[in-house]
Amino acid sequence: MNEDFIRFENVKKIYRTGEIELTALHDVSFSVARGEICIIVGESGAGKTTLLNILGGMDSLSEGRITVDGEEISSYDAKRLTAYRRSDVGFVFQFYNLIPNLTALENVEISAKRGREPLDAAETLRRVGLGERMSNFPAQLSGGEQQRVAIARALAKNPKLLLCDEPTGALDYRTGKAILKLLQDSCREKGMTVIIITHNKALCAMADRVIRVKSGSILSEERQTQVTSVEELEW
Ligand SMILES: Nc1ncnc2c1ncn2[C@@H]1O[C@H](COP(=O)(O)OP(=O)(O)OP(=O)(O)O)[C@@H](O)[C@H]1O
Ligand SMILES: [Mg+2]
Repeated sequence: MNEDFIRFENVKKIYRTGEIELTALHDVSFSVARGEICIIVGESGAGKTTLLNILGGMDSLSEGRITVDGEEISSYDAKRLTAYRRSDVGFVFQFYNLIPNLTALENVEISAKRGREPLDAAETLRRVGLGERMSNFPAQLSGGEQQRVAIARALAKNPKLLLCDEPTGALDYRTGKAILKLLQDSCREKGMTVIIITHNKALCAMADRVIRVKSGSILSEERQTQVTSVEELEW
């Protein structure tokens, strides 16, 4: 195991809006090993999305250092950051962010094309239970189905790093569980490193590592030796 596949060192993020400064992350340090499932929990406004966006190369940090797979992404210029975002990171957003005028299959294909060793788009959609809905547009799908397309989109790229911001927030219990199982299986089969943000503390049991965030700081970082499979989780 590579203990430091992801490493945050003293990361600080300050948002400036006009005269107002808001420190969203204070001195955040933690590591995640390759192939782990890491769950990030914390109350609303704690800085979870900020942390994930910075890790995914979608936002910049104010101070500190971040390395991923031995590369210092926090020193990347715009061009390298774009390449990193495109090929190495799969992102599942809190509110799907599908392209409305592309079908489910096209949404997944466009992302798969960017991966270095992508999975088959249609097959990935079948795996999330949407084999029959591939030619539907996002507006013709329920919220839960759209989220499953979003997850298929991120998985099909077969990224090194799969970042999920409340991936089951919009899903019913059963669908949510199926999606989490898929994330857990992908992590194990493909060796993807998966980071999941959630408000649901019961999900912590499925993680190899749990990071608790409060008011922009790390409250605790725990490596779990006992991991529960998603099928056995109840909440
Ligand atoms: N682009 C931005 N500009 C200014 N402030 C921001 C920006 N994005 C986030 N913030 C602020 O940074 C803090 C952390 O926000 P963040 O979205 O990371 O929280 P969160 O833990 O993801 O919350 P939630 O659980 O509600 O999604 C909040 O106070 C938020 O208002
Ligand atoms: Mg958030």
